[in-house]
Amino acid sequence: MKIRILGAGAGGGFPQWNCNCNNCKRVRSGEMRAKRRTQSSIAVSSDGSNWLLFNASPDIRSQLEAFPDSHPKHGIRDSGIKAILLIDSQIDHTTGLLMLRESTIPLEIYCTEMVKQDLSTGFPLFNMLEHYCKVNHHPVPLDGSGFSIPLIDDLRIHTHALKSKAPPYSPHRHDPHPGDNIGVVIEQISTGQKLYYAPGLGEIEPHVAQAAHDADCILVDGTFWQHDEMSRAGICEKLALEMGHLPQSGQGGMIEFLAGTQAKRKILIHINNTNPILDEDSPERKTLEEAGIEVSFDGMEINL
Ligand code: MLT
Ligand code: MN
Ligand code: ZN
Repeated sequence: MKIRILGAGAGGGFPQWNCNCNNCKRVRSGEMRAKRRTQSSIAVSSDGSNWLLFNASPDIRSQLEAFPDSHPKHGIRDSGIKAILLIDSQIDHTTGLLMLRESTIPLEIYCTEMVKQDLSTGFPLFNMLEHYCKVNHHPVPLDGSGFSIPLIDDLRIHTHALKSKAPPYSPHRHDPHPGDNIGVVIEQISTGQKLYYAPGLGEIEPHVAQAAHDADCILVDGTFWQHDEMSRAGICEKLALEMGHLPQSGQGGMIEFLAGTQAKRKILIHINNTNPILDEDSPERKTLEEAGIEVSFDGMEINL
């Protein structure tokens, strides 16, 4: 299985356009050893030609341009991206659909009923795309049962509901429903290798722990180091868990959870610009290294 990290940052990217936090300021001035990051998205393939895109970030144009396997190869209009799976309806994971409107065939979009509803009401991207390439929506299960996708059929996809948050514009922002967010197990049938992908993860429920234990590679929520990171940076009072993100440090945090899993690779994605792990020389980054946890970056390739 080939996994391409298209964007490893959280909403806003790194640096964020209006942010003067310790990280954003120092990456701009060149004082800090750190990579810039665009917004959260990955692509997965078993053959290196036909790719399943997970999430469509506002930065998708530059992400695909920097990714030769996605470039058109046949005829005047073409792409290596054969289908798109959305894990939620957040701006950073869906706005890029508008940038794909030039498609000459309908976009094959796999998402839950809840995400489809948000993208037909509070953030009506699906309605807008009806005036361009149109959308073929495929509902995805919430119980972990598997399905396959035409042209990418050596991959078996298993989707399950997660506890995280619907976005502010969702009609059910304050009334959580199963399917507002999902985690995904991607299994390559010919090799048996499994990736567990959950970029927005607020709680380690038993089915999440099971999926992570069975995986060869875990690619999970790396948004915040600390629960009160945003307020410490003087940005806002929102706590990590209120935003649906389990912080890395502390009791019951992501580091502690990953320590109990067996995967060959444990990798963080969707890293917020306030997170000290972006600084490659920080003590927090060293703590991750000692725990065998990697921090993903734009352009990273993982071969399973
Ligand atoms: C989130 O996952 O919480 C988002 O990145 C927030 C946002 O995009 O504003
Ligand atoms: Mn996000
Ligand atoms: Zn910042």
